[in-house]
Amino acid sequence: MGKQLKSLILAGTAVTTGIYLWKHLQEKPDENGRTFLQQYGPWAIVTGAARAEGLGYGFARQLAGRHVNLVLVDILADELQARADELARDYHVRVRPVVLDLGRTDFLPELTAVTDGLEVGLLVCNHMFTPKETPTILDMDLATHHAMLDINARAYTTLVHVYGRQMVAQGHGGILLVSSQGGLHGTPYTGAYSANKAFQLMLGESLWYELRQSNVDVLVLTPGLTRTQGDALDNYPAFMLMDVEPVVREALANLGRQHLVIPGPVNKLFYFATTHLMSRQKALITTGDLMAQGLNK
Ligand SMILES: NC(=O)c1ccc[n+]([C@@H]2O[C@H](COP(=O)([O-])OP(=O)(O)OC[C@H]3O[C@@H](n4cnc5c(N)ncnc54)[C@H](OP(=O)(O)O)[C@@H]3O)[C@@H](O)[C@H]2O)c1
Repeated sequence: MGKQLKSLILAGTAVTTGIYLWKHLQEKPDENGRTFLQQYGPWAIVTGAARAEGLGYGFARQLAGRHVNLVLVDILADELQARADELARDYHVRVRPVVLDLGRTDFLPELTAVTDGLEVGLLVCNHMFTPKETPTILDMDLATHHAMLDINARAYTTLVHVYGRQMVAQGHGGILLVSSQGGLHGTPYTGAYSANKAFQLMLGESLWYELRQSNVDVLVLTPGLTRTQGDALDNYPAFMLMDVEPVVREALANLGRQHLVIPGPVNKLFYFATTHLMSRQKALITTGDLMAQGLNK
C-alpha cells in the first residue's frame, strides 16, 4: 500500500472517530434548548451517597456519567471516600466527599465551606435515617423520633432553602427529593419514616409550583421497594422489587418534565390501585398487611 494511501486511511479514521466521540459526548438539548450539563451542572450535591448499593451512589454514578462534578455527603467516612475515589477514577469528574452528620442542627457551615464558590446546578436530597428494628410509633423512643425529624425533615428543609436560593439567583438548577412510596400514604411499622417521607413529598410538590417560573426544576421521587438493603427485603414479593439503576434513570429522565416520579410499572400500578380502586382506609390496611409480611410482624 502506498504511503499516501496509508496516511489517507489514518486521517479518515481519525476524523470519523473524532466525529463519533463528539456526537456521543454532546448532550442533546431538551425542548427548551437546555443540555443536562447547562441546566444541572457543573456541580451536583448528593446526600446519603456512601453505600455502594444505595440510591445515592446510583445517582452519583449516573451524574458522573453525564460529566457532572460531585459533592458527596454522608455520615459514613470510609465508604464515602471509597465511592469518591471510584467515581473520580472511573468517570474523570471532580469529587468532593464531605463527611457530615446531617442530623446536627449546625451542619450547614461545614457544607457551605466546601460548596462556596461552586456553581451547584443540582441538589439530590437522598439521605435518610430509620431504625432497622422498625418499632411501632409508640414503641420507638422519643429521642429517635426527634433524631429522624432532624435528619429527614429539618436537614431536607435546610438544604433546599440554601441551595434553592442559590439556584434561583444563578438562574438555573434542579432539586430532586428522594421521598418514598411510604410517603404517599400511611405505612404501618415504619410510621415515623412514612411521616418524614410525606413531609419531603409535600415540601417538594409545593416548591415545584413556587419555582415554576424560575428555571429551577423540582422533582420528588417516590421509590417503592428497591434492592439497596441486601437481604432485608427478601420477605416481600419479588416482583415488587426494583434495581437502583432504572429508578435513578427514570428520575433523571423526568427532571424538568414532571414534578413527581413513581418509578416502574409495579409501583405505578400499586399507587393506582390504592388511590382509585379502594378506599383510603382499605389502602392503609392493605399496606399494613404487606409491611407485616415483609417485616415478619
Ligand atoms: N431502598 C428502598 O427500598 C427505598 C424505598 C423508598 C425510598 N427510599 C429512599 O431512598 C433513599 C436512599 O435509600 P437507600 O435505600 O439507598 O439507603 P442508604 O444507602 O442507606 O442511604 C441512606 C444513606 O444516608 C446516610 N445517613 C443516615 N443518617 C445520616 C446522617 N445523619 N447524616 C448523613 N448521612 C446519613 C446513611 O448512612 P447509615 O447507613 O449510617 O445510616 C446511608 O449511607 C432514602 O431517602 C430512602 O428513604 C428507599
